[in-house]
Amino acid sequence: MLQNKNILLCITGSIACYKSVDLYRKLKKEGANVKIAVSASAAKFISPYIFESFGEEVFEDDAFKSPLSHIALSKFADIILIAPATYNTINKLAAGIADTLITLTAAAAPDKPKILVPAMNPNMYANKILKENLEKLCAFNFSVVSPETGNAACGDYGEGKFPEIDDIIFGVKSVFKKKTLKGKKVLVTAGATREYLDPVRFMSNGSSGKMGIGIANAAVQAGAEVTLIALNIGDRIKYINRHIKIINRTDFSGLKEVLLSEFKKTDILFMAAAVSDYGFKEKSPVKIKKSGNKGAGGTLQIELMQNEDLLKAVSKIKKIGQIVFGFAAETDSAIENGRKKLAEKSLDYIFVNDVSKDIIGGDENEGFLINKSGEIKSFKRENKESLAEKLIDEIN
Ligand SMILES: Cc1cc2nc3c(=O)[nH]c(=O)nc-3n(C[C@H](O)[C@H](O)[C@H](O)COP(=O)(O)O)c2cc1C
Repeated sequence: MLQNKNILLCITGSIACYKSVDLYRKLKKEGANVKIAVSASAAKFISPYIFESFGEEVFEDDAFKSPLSHIALSKFADIILIAPATYNTINKLAAGIADTLITLTAAAAPDKPKILVPAMNPNMYANKILKENLEKLCAFNFSVVSPETGNAACGDYGEGKFPEIDDIIFGVKSVFKKKTLKGKKVLVTAGATREYLDPVRFMSNGSSGKMGIGIANAAVQAGAEVTLIALNIGDRIKYINRHIKIINRTDFSGLKEVLLSEFKKTDILFMAAAVSDYGFKEKSPVKIKKSGNKGAGGTLQIELMQNEDLLKAVSKIKKIGQIVFGFAAETDSAIENGRKKLAEKSLDYIFVNDVSKDIIGGDENEGFLINKSGEIKSFKRENKESLAEKLIDEIN
């Protein structure tokens, strides 16, 4: 999404300045064209030579040295990213002061999106002057990637820490997304249920949760408030945006209980989790021993019971205006089965994929989207993150 985008990375004088080197490298890796401006204070924390040694021209804080560079930079930028953004620079911007190259460039770019990544001592970040000014700036084409809570360099604990690079990149990409789900509450299920036979053994499937988490992240970028019911997603997931409310559950009954209560507060449900169709009729409270349970020929008889269909349960309590988006894993007659499920479960959309094609647990997906009117759209194989963005666009 950042391929060939022009980003002006402005670095101001926080102790977190050194982290902007990693940020610069990640932006380049994402394909962006990056120009760099450093404030006079930032140049005391990190040498501009770091960026010059990567082949970049660095614009230092002397607007008089290279006349009109603020105009050229403001025209170059698709986005002005101020990271870290100091207390000083944020408050100056809000007051309309333009006495540094960075504040001057921002002043010359009122229509361009500008992102602030504040980083400072927690007491400074809690200062109401700053809070009011951040709010004010948000009405003037600025957005904020909020800092994290943790220990500041001075030892104080609280909100003010420079966020993770992935969160900043997410914030930059969000600027290019239309806020079509603003004000909407989105609920996503992701991962695989585990049905326990005894305290150590369970029945599950290979779903990683990547598709559902891609949907959850894309919904945040579209402006939604997102809750994720995560089922055993483990550490195979690269990134979950920190604004997503995560509710962890393990098995079918845990999922059912939280899904039915959360659904009531939801505008759009994406049911991407792979839910077990069966559970064990009886769960042993102790580990089943190898000896003593054997039947004829060394067999062990275990009875399974069908679990309730959660999408049908949801459709029973669905109110007018709520949207339910289902996913179906098929190994044959994908479209035919998808259509049948859409009708049986009163869904608004269903995404059907052929899981015989090495999709479960993988990084990529492909399939067909069927809507209530019976229209079918085919999606070629691509990574689950970008497919998720396309599916979110379809809702619009
Ligand atoms: C050691 C040291 C660390 C500082 N760390 C921060 C910081 O993390 N955040 C901040 O907003 N200001 C910090 N400051 C203060 C700014 O550097 C100072 O307000 C400066 O005027 C900022 O100028 P600029 O916004 O043009 O870069 C620090 C100052 C010093 C001396």
